[in-house]
Amino acid sequence: MFSDRTNWKLTRNRLTEALEEVKSSGARILDLTASNPTRAGLHYNDSQILQAFASRNALDYDPQPRGLLEARQPVAEYYRSQHSVELGLSRVLLTTSTSEGYSFVFRLLCNVGDELLVPKPSYPLFEFLADLQDVKLVPYPLIYDHGWQIDFLSLQKAVSQRTRGVVLVHPNNPTGSFVQDHERRQLNRFCREHGLALIVDEVFLDYALDGEQRETFASNNDVLTFTLSGISKISALPQMKAAWIAANGPEASLSDAMARLEVIADTYLSMSAPIQWALPALLEERNNTQPQLIERVQGNLAELDRQLAGQKSCQRLLLEGGWYAVLRVPVTQTDEELCIELLRQKSVLLHPGHFYDFPSDGYLVLSLITPKEEFAEGVELAFELIGGR
Ligand SMILES: Cc1ncc(COP(=O)(O)O)c(C=O)c1O
Repeated sequence: MFSDRTNWKLTRNRLTEALEEVKSSGARILDLTASNPTRAGLHYNDSQILQAFASRNALDYDPQPRGLLEARQPVAEYYRSQHSVELGLSRVLLTTSTSEGYSFVFRLLCNVGDELLVPKPSYPLFEFLADLQDVKLVPYPLIYDHGWQIDFLSLQKAVSQRTRGVVLVHPNNPTGSFVQDHERRQLNRFCREHGLALIVDEVFLDYALDGEQRETFASNNDVLTFTLSGISKISALPQMKAAWIAANGPEASLSDAMARLEVIADTYLSMSAPIQWALPALLEERNNTQPQLIERVQGNLAELDRQLAGQKSCQRLLLEGGWYAVLRVPVTQTDEELCIELLRQKSVLLHPGHFYDFPSDGYLVLSLITPKEEFAEGVELAFELIGGR
């Protein structure tokens, strides 16, 4: 009765089962994977956010496939003020989430079975997004050698007649690595040579740990480029469901791409009026939430490093931005088994590297936006177990 594309393995994984078990025993879990900013103890400007939804304009229905001009303007303003990039409003198309943005772009570029090159390790949702759009993902490795780098040799090998584009996550989740300038130049050459588009996820772009803004791909005109971002991370408001695609590139393909994307978006018209009228205020909220999150990430990272200095079993991989850190741990069992043991014995939740497609065991991923006390206590307990073997 059902499509092959939805034939997923729907049973819970062993870690989720263990989590349910430990929770039902009444134990307090120290969740070092917490990545929901609305539950991370941040201070939001509640009344300003709520007032933004009180506009009478929201009572009018004005279906605009690219989004209302009044909602695309604050997106352009974000790029102007935070990234010094002038973005023509005709090149911005609003979506309810980055995931929806991915789906639209996959639909635009790929026929059934066409291929996209995706980084590995990276964001686990790609698999599902690709399944739903009948796209085949072909991974290209990121290699860790004094920081993470794109393996261009493997990228060259991964390209085929069916390849339509290269996906980048800038900075990547969970490795925290930005695409370097020389990599950007090489990627542009590679895409030009093979007639490919770039699809760049920049949801964590503003979270550079050294405080230095990295260049957005929303100014990359060498090849057709779709930059995806949204307020789920920029303003720490994932529940509001507002994101966008910003397109760049050579004029001929760019206007064709936007015209086709407009038809895709017109088929759903998924942006609600209230959220669009609220978008200027919701984007403005980043000026309040970003400093808090950067402070949280830096503080937790300093605490992690302080505790790492006191033990010999684990190391932290270098990271440049985003909300996550990767630990290198001894391989005495699978990462999943280690995470289950951490849960059962210490009530600490971490993610095994294989959730993100790390090449082998020996990697754990933890969220740096976890509230400070919980983070410090959780790391201490985790090191007690890992270091005490
Ligand atoms: C790399 C990356 N892209 C996109 C998203 C989700 O964005 P959205 O809520 O806009 O779909 C996440 C969420 O964790 C993410 O890690």
